[in-house]
Amino acid sequence: MNVENNYILKNGVSIPAIGFGTWQIPNGKEAYESTLIAIKNGYRHIDTAAAYGNEESVGQAIKDSKIKRDEIFITSKLKAELKGYHTAKMEFAKTIERLGVDYLDLYLIHAPKPWNVHSDGTEYTEQNIETWKAFIELHQEGKIRAIGVSNFRPEHLKPLIEATGFVPHVNQIFLCPGATQKVTVDYSKPLGILTEAYSPFATGRLFKVEIMQQMAEKYQKSIAQIAVRWSLQRGFLPLPKSVTPERIMNNFQVWDFEIAENDLEIIDNIQLPW
Ligand SMILES: NC(=O)c1ccc[n+]([C@@H]2O[C@H](COP(=O)([O-])OP(=O)(O)OC[C@H]3O[C@@H](n4cnc5c(N)ncnc54)[C@H](OP(=O)(O)O)[C@@H]3O)[C@@H](O)[C@H]2O)c1
Repeated sequence: MNVENNYILKNGVSIPAIGFGTWQIPNGKEAYESTLIAIKNGYRHIDTAAAYGNEESVGQAIKDSKIKRDEIFITSKLKAELKGYHTAKMEFAKTIERLGVDYLDLYLIHAPKPWNVHSDGTEYTEQNIETWKAFIELHQEGKIRAIGVSNFRPEHLKPLIEATGFVPHVNQIFLCPGATQKVTVDYSKPLGILTEAYSPFATGRLFKVEIMQQMAEKYQKSIAQIAVRWSLQRGFLPLPKSVTPERIMNNFQVWDFEIAENDLEIIDNIQLPW
């Protein structure tokens, strides 16, 4: 199965099919160097967030890479605990200032509810709708090329769409072998929402799975490459993170092999260690 280097969002915007993840990479030398190494090794899509605290270094690396701004796809996210129309507009302005850019390629509501809230988050529906209205305006003003959400399930997506008529271009969710998020994916696909797969290695837990090791041996690839390729062949947009130069390179070299359908199914159903 052929996979493309880019997906086309439903508004026609092209988005590189693998994004470099930057969660837990501290601002400063580490975020700067990892982002620069990623760009030098072919990544053209960087995933950051206000909550990661590393937008300055990520932005500096992008600038210093000398790759033209319109050839790099930059995603950032509005903090989960900051919601509402005016808040969203103010926080967006801070994000682009920290990144040192004058527009974003993709801006996401980081989560339907603040991280410390132990409920399904539906009580934040009105605040998410107000936030979403600000996102739509920023998009229509040309300040953000595509807008979306993250960690949203159908019960969070539906009210946004009903209230505004504007379907998110992207939903970024936890998705990796063994955690295929069928309910959210099945809801999103017919609406043309692209699913981005965060934590494509389950933040490292995937490397302990015996079946993944067997697949790596079978295809003569690393476990990481199997996971990234699986994600692409399933139509998702994986966001691998690493601070290790060889891994950053390895995770992007997934274009020259193909996983057979029966193996994709085995990978779909692995048991992740918790
Ligand atoms: N929207 C959200 O709420 C959300 C939540 C989580 C993540 N994300 C996004 O998704 C990105 C990725 O998820 P993640 O950070 O949870 O982690 P991940 O990409 O699933 O896994 C990263 C871990 O795997 C290791 N690793 C990477 N490549 C490897 C390789 N080839 N061989 C062996 N080990 C390897 C890394 O180690 P080293 O770094 O030490 O090399 C790190 O410990 C994030 O950075 C972020 O951009 C978004």
